[in-house]
Amino acid sequence: MRPQRFKTRITELFGIRHPIVAGGLMWLADASYVAAVVNAGGMGFITAKTFPEEGRFEAELDKAAKLTGGKPFGVNLYMSNRPEQNKDLPAQLEVALAKGVRHFETAGLPPTEFVERIKEAGGVVFHKVATVKHAISAVSKLPIDAVAVVGAECGGHPGLNLIGSIVQIPLAVQRLDVPVLVGGGIGTGSQIAAALAMGADAVLLGTRFLVATEIWSHHLIKQRVVDAQETDTALVLASLRNTFRGIDNATTRAIADLEKQGVTAFDAYRPYVMGTLQKEAYTVGDPEKGILSMGQACVFADKIEPVEAIMDRLVDEAVAASGRLGGLMAADAESAAAE
Ligand SMILES: Cc1cc2nc3c(=O)[nH]c(=O)nc-3n(C[C@H](O)[C@H](O)[C@H](O)COP(=O)(O)O)c2cc1C
Repeated sequence: MRPQRFKTRITELFGIRHPIVAGGLMWLADASYVAAVVNAGGMGFITAKTFPEEGRFEAELDKAAKLTGGKPFGVNLYMSNRPEQNKDLPAQLEVALAKGVRHFETAGLPPTEFVERIKEAGGVVFHKVATVKHAISAVSKLPIDAVAVVGAECGGHPGLNLIGSIVQIPLAVQRLDVPVLVGGGIGTGSQIAAALAMGADAVLLGTRFLVATEIWSHHLIKQRVVDAQETDTALVLASLRNTFRGIDNATTRAIADLEKQGVTAFDAYRPYVMGTLQKEAYTVGDPEKGILSMGQACVFADKIEPVEAIMDRLVDEAVAASGRLGGLMAADAESAAAE
């Protein structure tokens, strides 16, 4: 693990070495993955929704506590706009708090009650959104510690406005006073240095880690990510106001056909969007099955290797990029800056 090279409001708030945070990954962010991120100096979040079976979530938290040797790790609570999908979340939050988890990533609908409960229990929570407008609204309504803003390039839910990270990062920093995590398309250390230079407090990654050894998915899925170019993702379901970015595959093409025909009934899409299809795809290694979230940073995920190796590369590249920027400063500019 690399020594600490960057100190920000988020490294301080989370008590982590690097300003690199791994967001929740449905089906994939389990104890092994999250512990690997924590042990490599970042912060990770076990995706509560992945473990609906009685006792399974609890067991996953116990496993993470063991693997991290007591270091803090987090839990992701994603609030769907389909209420039946959120029914386990209140009990899972209580289980997490009882087990001593104090770091939370929330996403989806504004989680007012969850945030209040987390703060009452002394926890740290950030809410993830896809536009600065939503971030401002979340900060004004929720007692959150920080906010994460993800740009159009991200895997999963890029929102409806599709604002790219190059615009969104400085805008978020300009308009928000709380610590800001930024994500969407980040897969190299030079982007991390750029995000920090733009004023961000940390980066939030998903896609770059899909090729980590500790992720349990079948190696054929990881190989698909390794092979993917930046042009190999597809955006679907904008017509249902629930845009997803995932692997461009047979499923996203079938969905795109329905959207082109103007079909709006959710039932027509159900056979393609069922979450269980993703789990099956990850298990058997079929990258054509289901909407498999993946962002444009897939192009930077160039080999299957442990989380720590990925993190070390990111930190080394970020340091090199910062050095390059320092080295580019003209002597006049340097002395002017010193005055
Ligand atoms: C496979 C995959 C699954 C994801 N599942 C979730 C999820 O369940 N909950 C959530 O809040 N975000 C989820 N995300 C979003 C990530 O936490 C993160 O915000 C996003 O990946 C950052 O952008 P990037 O993909 O460009 O790195 C997922 C992303 C991917 C790639």
